[in-house]
Amino acid sequence: MTTRLLSAFLLFASLAAAQPAATPETPAQREARMKWWREARFGMFVHWGLYSGLAGTWEGKPVATRGGMEWIQNRVKADTKTYAERAIPLFKPTPDFARQWARLAKLAGCRYVVFTTKHHDGFALHNSKVSDYDAGSVLNRDLTKEIVDAIRGEGLRVGFYHSVIDWHHDQYGYAHSKQLPHPLRDQPYPAGTRDHAKYVAYLHSQVDELTSNYGKVDILWWDYSAVDFQGEQAWRAFDLLAKVRAKQPAVIMNNRLFRIPEAGFNGMGTSAISARMEPQYGDFITPEQHIPAIGMPGVDWETCMTMNTTWGYSDHDHAWKSNEILIRNLIDIASKGGNYLLNIGPKADGSVPVESVRALEAMGAWMKVNGASIYSTAASPFEELDWGRATLKQLPGGKARLYLHVFEWPKDGKLVVPLANAGSAKARLLAGGKALKISAASTSLTIQVPAAAPDPIATVIELDLAGPPSVVKPGA
Ligand code: GLC
Repeated sequence: MTTRLLSAFLLFASLAAAQPAATPETPAQREARMKWWREARFGMFVHWGLYSGLAGTWEGKPVATRGGMEWIQNRVKADTKTYAERAIPLFKPTPDFARQWARLAKLAGCRYVVFTTKHHDGFALHNSKVSDYDAGSVLNRDLTKEIVDAIRGEGLRVGFYHSVIDWHHDQYGYAHSKQLPHPLRDQPYPAGTRDHAKYVAYLHSQVDELTSNYGKVDILWWDYSAVDFQGEQAWRAFDLLAKVRAKQPAVIMNNRLFRIPEAGFNGMGTSAISARMEPQYGDFITPEQHIPAIGMPGVDWETCMTMNTTWGYSDHDHAWKSNEILIRNLIDIASKGGNYLLNIGPKADGSVPVESVRALEAMGAWMKVNGASIYSTAASPFEELDWGRATLKQLPGGKARLYLHVFEWPKDGKLVVPLANAGSAKARLLAGGKALKISAASTSLTIQVPAAAPDPIATVIELDLAGPPSVVKPGA
């Protein structure tokens, strides 16, 4: 071969290798696969690992009162040996810890639980044959199995968070990225060189264990990539996705093996998201700690959020969100067509902080009465409602049901809904079913409501319409 031919061939070969395997899935099959997830709307996130025992404290001092304490190893720049020596003795899961998580998720109204099978510190909760930095080797337990069994026991779907970043593995090539965190980031490799391909092989092996040994995996929640290190180059991502799909054909995966606009990212930082998700890169995009202002029409998305400001447990973070904020966030997200993945950070023994338990109980009490206004609903047809939010359900025969979530209760007892030609509409309180009088004008509908808000956080009114809602735009 001439040099020119050879280089043309090499270019072709490298391009071919970088392409995703052709997806055999039709759009209809994709719709079917995503169905349960879209209907679920509410999931529980769990960040739990060695960092949970350190609880935001290093050498007797609080590291911070705000921010992710699952990053403590990076925050204090500890090498993995020092970190492990301090953290392992503190990590003491009780025999039955996972049952509390699963019961709490069920009680709160969550339909799925996504938990950290391995976070950035590299410690795996399963029993791994390819590592000695895992629960099997260190505790002689398979915590992943215990958690999966508990979640399944409550009839919930199972999601695996898995960090592709790894602060433990001695071949992880942290120098490839200036953007991804690593405790030793600006230092030379301790042993001179690293072969990142070896780390990638290890990553693939652990994912293979996770997708082979725990039954059905409903979600794979990857975390995360940087603009300067992502996808094929960083993780052999297409091969990884294909292997997971071969083992778990129905699995739903997020976008974080990549960091490009076609996969939902416009740059670094938690707010640099784009409303694009091409199917070869995953199934849904992952706004973090915020709710996109107008949702993401046409794209599946899930906002993940902490209850205070840390994902992993900290003794020092007391910035808990109120029940009102949490419940209204769930409603806000559903009204924009997204899912809410709300985090708990259990302590080293696996117990859930009491603040989180109370908040989830309150959410569960609200969902028990009002869940129909969240599950299996579609985004609001209104751009904005000055008193709250809405979700939509199609009913048989071309009819529609609106769920009106009232945050600001009308002082004059009249709730005005910007709907035209809604003369035959019927309204009632979702809690208790009391019928409410309505009067329809050509460009609005007025519902007579009780003097005081039955639920000060969010009262739901069910409004049945004879046809699709005919929304009147503000100012029209
Ligand atoms: C981030 C953080 C991480 C957390 C995750 C949740 O990427 O690195 O600690 O697990 O977001 O979305």
